[in-house]
Amino acid sequence: MPTLNEIRSAFLDFFERNDHRVVESSPLVPRNDPTLMFTNSGMVQFKNCFTGVEHRDYTRAATSQKCVRAGGKHNDLDNVGYTARHHTFFEMLGNFSFGDYFKEQAIPYAWDLLTRDFGIDSSKLLVTVYHTDDEAADIWKKYAGLPDERIIRIASEDNFWSMGSTGPCGPCTEIFYDHGPEVPGGPPGSPDEDGDRFIEIWNLVFMQNERFEDGSMRPLDMQSIDTGMGLERIGALLQGKHDNYDTDLMRSLIEASAHATSADPDGPGRVHHRVIADHLRSTSFLIADGVMPSNEGRGYVLRRIMRRAMRHAHMLGAKEPVMHRLVPALVAQMGQAFPELGRAQALITETLRLEETRFRQTLERGLRLLEDELGHVPDGAALPGQAAFRLYDTFGFPLDLTQDALREQGREVDLAGFEAAMAEQKAKARAAWAGSGETADQQVWFDIAETHGVTEFLGYETERAEGRILTLVADGTEIAEAAPGTRVQIVLNQTPFYAEAGGQVGDTGVIETESGRARVSDCKKVAGVFVHMAEVETGEIKAGEAARLEVDHERRSTIRANHSATHLLHEALRRALGPHVAQRGSLNAPDRLRFDFSHAKALDPDDLSRVEAEVNAFIRQNSPVETRIMTPDDARAIGAQALFGEKYGDEVRVVSMGWLDGSGKGTDGTTYSIELCGGTHVRRTGDIGAFKILSENASSAGVRRIEAVTGADVISDVQRHYEILDEVCLALNTLPEDLPARVSRLRQERRALANEVAQLRRELAMTGGAAGDAGPEPREVGGVTFLAQVLSGVQGRDLPPLIDEHKARLGSGAILLIADTGGKVAVAAGVTADLAGRVSAVDLVRAAVPALGGKGGGGRPDMAQGGGSDIGGAEAAITAAEEVLAS
Ligand code: ALA
Repeated sequence: MPTLNEIRSAFLDFFERNDHRVVESSPLVPRNDPTLMFTNSGMVQFKNCFTGVEHRDYTRAATSQKCVRAGGKHNDLDNVGYTARHHTFFEMLGNFSFGDYFKEQAIPYAWDLLTRDFGIDSSKLLVTVYHTDDEAADIWKKYAGLPDERIIRIASEDNFWSMGSTGPCGPCTEIFYDHGPEVPGGPPGSPDEDGDRFIEIWNLVFMQNERFEDGSMRPLDMQSIDTGMGLERIGALLQGKHDNYDTDLMRSLIEASAHATSADPDGPGRVHHRVIADHLRSTSFLIADGVMPSNEGRGYVLRRIMRRAMRHAHMLGAKEPVMHRLVPALVAQMGQAFPELGRAQALITETLRLEETRFRQTLERGLRLLEDELGHVPDGAALPGQAAFRLYDTFGFPLDLTQDALREQGREVDLAGFEAAMAEQKAKARAAWAGSGETADQQVWFDIAETHGVTEFLGYETERAEGRILTLVADGTEIAEAAPGTRVQIVLNQTPFYAEAGGQVGDTGVIETESGRARVSDCKKVAGVFVHMAEVETGEIKAGEAARLEVDHERRSTIRANHSATHLLHEALRRALGPHVAQRGSLNAPDRLRFDFSHAKALDPDDLSRVEAEVNAFIRQNSPVETRIMTPDDARAIGAQALFGEKYGDEVRVVSMGWLDGSGKGTDGTTYSIELCGGTHVRRTGDIGAFKILSENASSAGVRRIEAVTGADVISDVQRHYEILDEVCLALNTLPEDLPARVSRLRQERRALANEVAQLRRELAMTGGAAGDAGPEPREVGGVTFLAQVLSGVQGRDLPPLIDEHKARLGSGAILLIADTGGKVAVAAGVTADLAGRVSAVDLVRAAVPALGGKGGGGRPDMAQGGGSDIGGAEAAITAAEEVLAS
């Protein structure tokens, strides 16, 4: 009996032998479709190949595609556990042709695989075709030899397959297996076709049309093939089972659940085990593909599935969280085919454990409330909407969980009442905003948030995605379309653009629709709505249109590297300087990072280079950067750095990187950096490339600021410095390693030369300007030998030594020197010691200064200085000094 893993391989091998490229399953969150919540069939990743918009280097492909049908158009959640063939998660095996083969080949492939490779008894098979598709009917007849009565023509949409209301579509043919007359049920197209006798196993779609929003269709330029066969169904058939949950893979998960809860897998808790087995798969795969539990969008669907499973675990009498304990069983079964499961195992385990731990706190109380409420309504009557709303609002019971709980009693929820209670709460919230003093400009965003809900952010996982334009805003009002040159704010249901937050700048990039293209220069978030600041470049951008969004890749990459480097820097600083280091602000821009932190004094160069080296060591470690969601308390318990005074919700994103033991992943205690952070980060620290501090200085009192660069910017910074170095070496005709000695020698020489020049100047001044001259002649004034001289080419600081020389030469006397220093005038006076008490140098300077256009002057009685601005007053200044001596 082949296992599901073997059947998957056999399918892919068959098509690989027939020249198909085996392509990996695409993620559960579609990258290329704005209308789909989750990937729900194999063709989703190839949608644009069918319409001819996208070309790949192959025209035949085969996949085993992960699919989730919960939430959105295809929602099987309610039935899971209770039926033989409903799943929230399943694998769709498919083969595809993009303008290569068509019906004539697709039907033979399917027939051969089923009847030869899989060995299915061909007499048990029958097919349906679209009622006008004679061609397909003919091939079935000729190739497979099916008689007319086993080729059923169906006129309804059942045999015209489309992915959604728009996109590629076409007639299809479905292959059924007949389990025999002992099982109740009629053939397809008959009134009791929903019975279990005739089971559809494979759908072959002949893609030949494209459907548009207005319902119109165009023939596609090429004819293509899209097929889908549920692995669990074909698995059940090949394993001789009638129930998908009896296949080896599902059974092993059911047994894991039975083991973990000590409850008989086939006893009264049978349904619970089935729910748990199914939900374990969908929740684990969703988490592995980047969905995190939340109260919005995809995250809420995940939460609903998780909580539904958790209630069933509770019903089995589990006293402790169960789901996370089943992850190893799932990884053992499916980890080889889907390596992402193993990679995300820790994240899946922790996310499930956290959710279940938290939900258990309200689950029991909620269930008690539910029982109380039911006691108040007549037997079999619906649960009042108000009660269902309270369970939702206060106890975290998603509506479908309550419905599921009631199902066992054959009861329902009063849905209208539930909706009314929900609407009332929204109205209250709205009144609260209105009174919160928001400006009119912001009100528009709150209105949009209420009408359309918040924007789903896809940018942790991808830089490219499709979205639907919900509305456009210009000058604070909503508009329907925007023409070229218009500045407009664009709101979509989902986006890969990061909205500025936590110091990380908003993304830039392009939004493109069928009718136009806009350049996004920034993205901000108001009331949960991502606002793309854009300018229409060409054509028109219209509300309601589907759009392709693409973030500027290079820019985002450097922002990401800078942000991750900021975390490493923060930790390196804490370790180098002490635990008082706390983040006070940060900027993660494309060209640099800036980090402000509390620390009283400048860092010394040794500390700086130690910090820089440590950050670079963790970059070279190239350890994975991990993200988890947890409660703020749990985050603090593992030592996460949080912004002081920041308000966090009841769930936070925790980003960790770096291992302290270097030998591999350590426990929480040995993780290097753990921070609460909503930003985007590199996948591995090595992606940062390199880290270089550019500057360190004061930002404000007690706060230091470091600016740094990463990656290619480090290289250009180093190159620039090398260029400068080369230039200097060339000018000094030396090698870099000799440069310090060379510079120090040059400085010594310069100092010696400066001294020599000063000495020569003084000598020149002593001789009155001309070398060899005897110098000015002193004369007698008021009984004192007085020497006055006007000099040029000397500085103010040269005057005192000159005066000392004159004093020595005269033996006894007074000296007044006036120097033209180029624009300014310096004056100095000196009196020899023997004249102390008779004449003061200060008086001489003070007398001289006014004539030179200056004021004041001062010093000691034997040496004083002053200044002026007008050398033309030199003679008058000398005369004024003489008058002091004469008096
Ligand atoms: N896309 C087709 C389906 O989902 C094959 O049934």
